[in-house]
Amino acid sequence: MSVRLSTGVEIPIEMHKARMVQKIQLVSADERLKAMEEAGYNTFLLKTKDIFLDMLTDSGVNAMSDNQFAGMIKADDAYAGSMTFYEFAKAVEDVLGYKYVMNTHQGRAAEHLLAKVFAKPGGVVPTNYHFTTTKAHIELQGMKVLEIYYDEALKTESTNQFKGNMDPNKLRNVIKTYGKDKIGFVRMEATTNLIGGQPFSMKNLNEIRQICNENELLMVMDGSLLCENAYLIGQRESGYQNKTVAEIVKEMCSVPDVYYMSGRKNTSVRGGMIATNNQKHFELIKPWLPVYEGFITYGGMSMREIGAMSVGVREMVDPGVAGASVEQIKYFVNKLVKAGIPVVTPPGGLACHLDAMRFLPHVPQSEYPAGALAAALYIASGIRSMERGSVSMDRDKDGKDVPADVELTRIAMPRRVYTVSHIDYAIDRIQWLYKHRELVKGLKWVSEPPVLRFFFGRMEALDDWGSNLRDAFKKELGNA
Ligand code: F0G
Repeated sequence: MSVRLSTGVEIPIEMHKARMVQKIQLVSADERLKAMEEAGYNTFLLKTKDIFLDMLTDSGVNAMSDNQFAGMIKADDAYAGSMTFYEFAKAVEDVLGYKYVMNTHQGRAAEHLLAKVFAKPGGVVPTNYHFTTTKAHIELQGMKVLEIYYDEALKTESTNQFKGNMDPNKLRNVIKTYGKDKIGFVRMEATTNLIGGQPFSMKNLNEIRQICNENELLMVMDGSLLCENAYLIGQRESGYQNKTVAEIVKEMCSVPDVYYMSGRKNTSVRGGMIATNNQKHFELIKPWLPVYEGFITYGGMSMREIGAMSVGVREMVDPGVAGASVEQIKYFVNKLVKAGIPVVTPPGGLACHLDAMRFLPHVPQSEYPAGALAAALYIASGIRSMERGSVSMDRDKDGKDVPADVELTRIAMPRRVYTVSHIDYAIDRIQWLYKHRELVKGLKWVSEPPVLRFFFGRMEALDDWGSNLRDAFKKELGNA
C-alpha cells in the first residue's frame, strides 16, 4: 500500500508490524572488498555474515505472517493423505479457482515436469520472456524458447505500462513458421522477471488465449509473481481500477490451461505447485510426481511448508501483501529517476533494476557490466544484488558467449522485510557509485560452469578496480 502525506509526497506504507526481528551487520569497506574477492566477484558466492541488505532475490526470503507460522505448527505430518494438503488444495480452489493441484519442491521442479510431459522434441515454446530455469528445462527436452515480446519490452527507459505483453502478431508468425504441431505450449510469465518485473495486461492475456484457442495450443502461465502482476493491472489497466486484487487474480487464473508457480515469492514459503481445471492434463503429469518430487499429497515439500503455503495463498491477494514490494519498488525507482540514475522504468514487480549499460557505458558488454555493477554496489554499500545480463546467459553450442538483450543489476525487494530507511540508504550509495562510475571496470572469467553458469562461476576484476573503488569510498566516507 502507499499513502499520500499532507505534503503531497507519496510513500510506501507497511501494512504489518514487526514482532520478531533479525539483527544484521554492516562490515567495513575493507572487509567487503575481501569478501567480494573471495566470492570470485559473484554475489551468489557471498556469505550472509558479510551482507547488510540481502537484495539478491525475493525468493524464499520473504517475511512470513504470524498465521503462516501457526499453519506450520498445526501441519499434519503424513507421507500420504495429510489433511494439511487438502486444506492447501481448498485454498488454491478458493483463491485461484483450480480444482486440481499438486505441490512441487519449488518452481523449477514444476517447469521440469511440464517441459517433460508437454515436450515436442525439435519444437518450440513461445513466451513473453524466458526465465533462466524455464529455458534450461525446455532446452533439456529438445525444444527451443522463442521470445515474442513487443520491441518496447527491451527499452529500459519507457512509459509503456505493460512491457510484459506478448506480441500476438509474432505468435501468429511463429505458428505459420513452425506449424502448430511443433509448439509444445505457449508460456505467459506474470511479470517478466528478466526484463525488469514488467506486467502483462488482462487484454493481452485474453488476446493470446484467443490465438491459442484458434490453433488448439496449450497455454501455460507462470504465476510466480502473479499477485504483483494483478496489483499492477489494478493500478494501470482501464476497467480494473475498481476490482480487488483477489478478483483480478481469479480472472487471470481462469485464462490458461495449466498454471504453475514458485511458492517462494508470492506465498512466502519454500515450495511450488502446478494447478489446472483440466483433468486430462493433470492425469498426464501426476504419474511423474512421485518419480521426481514425492507423493501427490506432499510433492517434495515438507508438510510444514504446505501448512504455511495454504495460509500464504489466501494472504497473497491482500493488497497489503500483493502491493508490499510493488510500492517500495515504485518509491525506490522514482527517487533514482529523479537523481538521474539509469534504471528500468516504469517500476514493476520484483526489484529495482539498474541499467548497467547506461550506468557503465565505458564497460563493453563482453566484460559483463551488470556483473561488475553488482560487485561494485556490494563494495560501496554491503547490499547484495544480482547480475541479470550476459553472465546469466549460457554459451551457445559452439561455445560462444551469448550477449543478453539487456544488462541489468537487479536489486530485489523481499516482501515485508526491509523498510523505507533501508531503501533511502540504498539510493544514497547508488548515487555515490554513479558519481564514481568511471572507477568501475569489467570482469573476466576465472572458472565457468557449463550450465546456469551465474550460480557458481568465478570472476576477476580487470585492472583490480575493486581496490580503487574501495580506496575512493574510504577517502570520502570512511571505512564504514
Ligand atoms: N519462474 C519465475 C518467473 C521465477 O522468477 C522463478 C524463480 C522460477 C520460475 C523458478 O522458481 O526458484 O522456485 O525454482 N526466480 C528466483 C529469482 C530464483 O531469484 O528470481 P524456483
